[in-house]
Amino acid sequence: MRDAEIRELPGLIGEQVRVSGWLYNARSSGKLRFLVVRDGSGYLQSVVFRPGVEERVWEDAGRVTQESSLHVAGTVKAEPRAPGGVELQVGELAIEQLCPDYPITPKEHGPDFLLNHRHLWLRSKRQHAIMRVRDELTFGIRDFFHSRHYVNIDSPILTPAACEGTSTLFETDYFGEKAYLSQSGQLYLEPAAAAHGKVYCFGPTFRAEKSKTRRHLMEFWMVEPEVAWLRFDGLLDLAEEFVSSLVARVLDRCRQEFEWLERDMARLEAAAARPYPRIDYGDAVEKLKTKGFAVAFGDDFGGDEETALADEAGKPIMITRYPAAIKAFYMEPDANDPARALAVDMIAPDGYGEIIGGSERISSPEKLEQRIAEHNLPLAAFQWYLDVRRYGGFPHSGFGMGIERVVSWLCGLTHLREAIPYPRMINRLYP
Ligand code: 4AD
Ligand code: MG
Repeated sequence: MRDAEIRELPGLIGEQVRVSGWLYNARSSGKLRFLVVRDGSGYLQSVVFRPGVEERVWEDAGRVTQESSLHVAGTVKAEPRAPGGVELQVGELAIEQLCPDYPITPKEHGPDFLLNHRHLWLRSKRQHAIMRVRDELTFGIRDFFHSRHYVNIDSPILTPAACEGTSTLFETDYFGEKAYLSQSGQLYLEPAAAAHGKVYCFGPTFRAEKSKTRRHLMEFWMVEPEVAWLRFDGLLDLAEEFVSSLVARVLDRCRQEFEWLERDMARLEAAAARPYPRIDYGDAVEKLKTKGFAVAFGDDFGGDEETALADEAGKPIMITRYPAAIKAFYMEPDANDPARALAVDMIAPDGYGEIIGGSERISSPEKLEQRIAEHNLPLAAFQWYLDVRRYGGFPHSGFGMGIERVVSWLCGLTHLREAIPYPRMINRLYP
C-alpha cells in the first residue's frame, strides 16, 4: 500500500493505493456507494461495494458529507467512464474530520455569498480549473522570458512617486513620509535594461481607480518586459509573439481545465497564431465612426469601442500610435507626427478589452524633462529616472500585461474577480 496523488493513478492500475483528500460528492445505488474524492490533483471515483468491505467502512461511506476530509484505500481499476479513466475499488475508508455543514452546496449561490467565502470557494471545480490556468499562464510567462535570456528584475512595491498618473495611487505612511503602492514596475525596470539588456518584472500592482467594472481590480498582477535598443515595430512583434505563444501553450496544457470551464476552445485557437491585426489609432477612429460610435480624434476608447474593434477580428488586435495627450508622460513621440505617441494597446476579442499597454520610451533627457513638467510631476522625484537618459541614453521599449485580464479571456469569465485568488475590489477587502 502506497500513498498516491490522484493524478498518478492512471499509471498505477492494479495497484493498492491510499488517497487523502476531501469528499466532492457522493451517491448510492443499492449495494454500491460512489464517493468522488478530490485531493487537489484530480477527482477520483471511489466505489464502495457492500459485500466487499467491513460494515464500518460501508457505514462511514454512507455518513461522510461534502468536504469532509478523508482517506480512501483500495485497488486502482481502469474505468473509461470515470473521470481520469480510473476508479478506486475501496477496501478501507477513514474519516479525518466530518464536515456536516459546508457552506457552499451544489445549489446556486449569489456572487456576494461566494466572494465572502472565497477561502472555501477556491475548492470548487470551476475555481480550481481557473487557478490551474492561471498557474500555467504565469509559469509560461517566466519560461518565455527565461528561455529568451531576459533577466527577472523585481520592482519595488513601496514607491515615492507616481508612474501612470497621480489620480489612482494608494497612499501609505512611510515613517512620516508619503509613500505609494506601485502602479507599475516600469520606471524601475528601465535602468535595469541598461544593466542587463532584456529584463522583465512580474508582481502585484495597485490602482485606486474607483471603477466598478468587471475589468478592474484594485490589486492585480502585471508582467512587464523592457528591452534595450528595441524600437516600436519590434515591440509590436514581441507583444504578438508573447501572447500568441502563451495562448498556444495554455490551450495545449490545460485541455481538461477548459473542458471543466466549458470554454469554447475554438474561440481561442485563432489567437494562438500570428499575426494579429495592427490598426493605427486614426484608422480605428474612422472605423468606429462607420459603426455609429460618437468618437472624435483625440478621444480615448472605452470598453464598447474596444469590443467593437476587436470582435471583428476574432483575435487580439493592436491599436497603435495614440494621441500623446491621452497617454503617459514617458512615451516617445512619433517622429512623423509628434502629437502621436509610439504607444500600443492590445485588445482581446469577445469583450475582454485591453490586455496589454506599452510604448517606446522617450530616450532624450530634455524631451523627458519637458514631459515631466507638462504633466505637473515633481521633477526632483524623477532625477534617477532621468539619469537613465543622461548616462548612456538608448532607445528602449516595453509593455505591461495584466494577468487577470488574460486569465479572464482564456477562461471565458464574466468578471475579473474569479481570475485572482483573493480579489480586491472597491467594496471588498475580505477575506
Ligand atoms: O496600460 P497600463 O496602465 O500600462 C502600464 O502600467 C505600463 N507602465 C506598462 C508598461 O509599459 N510597462 O497597464 C497595463 C495592463 C493593462 O493593459 C491591463 O491589462 C492591466 O495592466 N490593468 C489592469 N488589470 C486589472 N485591473 C486594473 N485596474 C488594471 N489596470 C491595468
Ligand atoms: Mg493602458
